[in-house]
Amino acid sequence: MRRPLIAGNWKMNGTKADAAELVRGIVAGVSGMQKTDVAVCPPFPYLYLVEELLQGTAIGWGSQDVSCEDGGAFTGQVSAAMLKDFGCRYAIVGHSERRQLNGETDGVIARKYAQAVANGLVPILCVGETLEEREQGKTEEVVAKHIDGVLNLEGVDAYAHGVVAYEPVWAIGTGVTATPAQAQEVHAFLRERIAKKSKEIAKGLRILYGGSMKPGNAAELIGQPDIDGGLIGGASLNAADFVAICQAGEDNA
Ligand code: PGA
Repeated sequence: MRRPLIAGNWKMNGTKADAAELVRGIVAGVSGMQKTDVAVCPPFPYLYLVEELLQGTAIGWGSQDVSCEDGGAFTGQVSAAMLKDFGCRYAIVGHSERRQLNGETDGVIARKYAQAVANGLVPILCVGETLEEREQGKTEEVVAKHIDGVLNLEGVDAYAHGVVAYEPVWAIGTGVTATPAQAQEVHAFLRERIAKKSKEIAKGLRILYGGSMKPGNAAELIGQPDIDGGLIGGASLNAADFVAICQAGEDNA
């Protein structure tokens, strides 16, 4: 029913040569897969190269961020229209690293989400709690707030055009993964939150898990009823690992 999506978030890693090698490895590795959507999100400067290498393949590409503005005097920012111009299908918004290090608020993130949708991109909205918030029993409160930013600005229909990624901050880049049961519990909560506004949109919404997903744990995570794929950081920088995670998506489709 929901097609798995495996997306690689390369973050600020690699050279142009690394990007080309990685993309070639992924193209070769996933060529036979038909039931899973695969995407890579390179740093902005490599989008042109990735577009050149992936054009005509089934693999999509996207950005790691997008401006909340249309265009104009916004030094250093990249608009959704520009990303579309480079063939992007996806734009990650609200990654915890941007929330924490760049001070992005739910309001700004909702505007980024809206910009992506208005320009024909699929936003991948990241939500997730810190370790401290989890230990204080605030996980649901925190992820609800992250989800509600978009609901408040754009209404539930916006979730018919996007993807959500549950990424517990304590699991990102730490090697500590949420257990399948822990992740499933939050995914079900997120889907239920959307279902309160629209059952149909909630049913169709893809909710990815992110946070130290690797070949060794991907199948069990993606096998959970409300986990529809993964947003992969570290393991997406290695073609063989990323392809193995895509295969887990394919096997669960
Ligand atoms: P990780 O990162 O797979 O390295 O934990 C995931 C992410 O930040 O999207």
